[in-house]
Amino acid sequence: MSMYNSFVLFGATGDLAQHKLWPALYWLVAEGQLLDLPFIVCVGRRKMDETAYEKFVKDAVIQSVGSAFTTSIWDSLMRHTRYESGMFEDPELYTRVKSILKEQEAVRGGKSTHYFYLAVPPVHYETILTNLKDAALVGKRTGPTQSQARLLIEKPFGRDLATSEHLENVVSSLFAEEQIYRIDHYLGKQTVQNILALRFANGIVEPTWNNEFIDHVQIQLLEKDGVGSRGAFYDGVGALRDVVQNHMLQMLAFVAMEQPVSFDSMHLREARIQALMALNPIGVNDVPTNVVRGQYKGYTSEPNVARDSQTETFVALKVSLNTPRWHGVPFYLRTGKSMENSVAEISLHYKKPAVCVGPVCLFPEPQVMRNVLAIRISPDHGVGLRLMGKKPGAGLDLETLAMEEMQKPGRSRKAAYERLILDALRGDQTLFADTREVNLSWRFSTQIFEGWTSRQPPLFPYEAHTMGPNASDGLLSTDERSWYLHDR
Ligand code: BG6
Repeated sequence: MSMYNSFVLFGATGDLAQHKLWPALYWLVAEGQLLDLPFIVCVGRRKMDETAYEKFVKDAVIQSVGSAFTTSIWDSLMRHTRYESGMFEDPELYTRVKSILKEQEAVRGGKSTHYFYLAVPPVHYETILTNLKDAALVGKRTGPTQSQARLLIEKPFGRDLATSEHLENVVSSLFAEEQIYRIDHYLGKQTVQNILALRFANGIVEPTWNNEFIDHVQIQLLEKDGVGSRGAFYDGVGALRDVVQNHMLQMLAFVAMEQPVSFDSMHLREARIQALMALNPIGVNDVPTNVVRGQYKGYTSEPNVARDSQTETFVALKVSLNTPRWHGVPFYLRTGKSMENSVAEISLHYKKPAVCVGPVCLFPEPQVMRNVLAIRISPDHGVGLRLMGKKPGAGLDLETLAMEEMQKPGRSRKAAYERLILDALRGDQTLFADTREVNLSWRFSTQIFEGWTSRQPPLFPYEAHTMGPNASDGLLSTDERSWYLHDR
């Protein structure tokens, strides 16, 4: 009996589906990566017929893929697509979805692996999962011949440790771990994966990737845009839940991990988990000195944002790891909306050489700056190195040389979703978050929420399109360091 794949996409009229998933599906087909076209059941709350839905996504795909759009590819995708509107609370919706899937099995004369993709705000997760279970659409795999279900679920998984654990209980009562694909699209990004190549394939990098040589590490995810039309999602979520708990801690794990035995799913996930386990918790009383939160001016006037909202749109934090490799090396993390520019970058700042030995100084100390190895994730992606060199002219004055190998802004964001969809179809979980990673990162973040609740540190206002509150500079300047963006 032939096998094929079906996607049941909840949240089919949402931002994520429209701007990321559909363009990713389009590219996968256009580039010949999905030879067996999956059957796609799109589920959304908005009432519309299939023609209207097609137009809705087609416009977004054309906008995204530009001149690469061809009608024949689009039509082939649409031949395998259905749209079904309904409320997620309504059991009838699931009965209809089930019969659509059954009909298709009869048409194709085969069994389908169903991928349930929850591209919806997390408040709907439990409702959808319970209804899927009641409709007998999901259940733990019991035998190789049974049509099996898989779950693709977007972050944030919960709001804190307790809600995340509750959600994990629901999910794990319905799916075995190998059926669950927790998406953190930063794991799908080429440059994040490139950290592994950079570290483990270069004789000059890995030997110096430790506290003997590194002074500190910075991880930044800065966005020029404010919350725009996403106020309803973002308000009450905030920067810590939206990107620190997941994307930024995942980047940290890639930087901080020990060498995995291999790059297979089990070993790579284990290495990330060990790194997160080594993260020193920020105790409730240390939150005011180690974490800075801010909100851009004008945020409370954004659509669907509470006028008295205390949601943070900026957060900077200083963290440390309890391993021999990283003992004494602070990691500074900074993220914000409505920043001066959009850039995601990791930088490793090397210790300065000893230019002064006793009374003899080869170079005047202030001229010597730290070497920096920068890994740019967006908008362009690549690697940069700050070295010291001689200023042209008489004397031996120094200047910085910024060497870099950057690729132009490209399809890196879409590529992340393409890669993840493809990996899920192949059953490769390497680039998906394991339940233990999610748990550890919530454990760490929840202590910060607790510190905010009990210690009530200030929520600093900052001007839109700046680098955030001054207090975030203070976090580094007290350690005689400063924020760095390569070549900016
Ligand atoms: C998402 C967050 O997960 O990541 C958004 O919900 C954020 O708020 C986005 O803008 C950043 O991703 P990227 O790929 O644009 O850097």
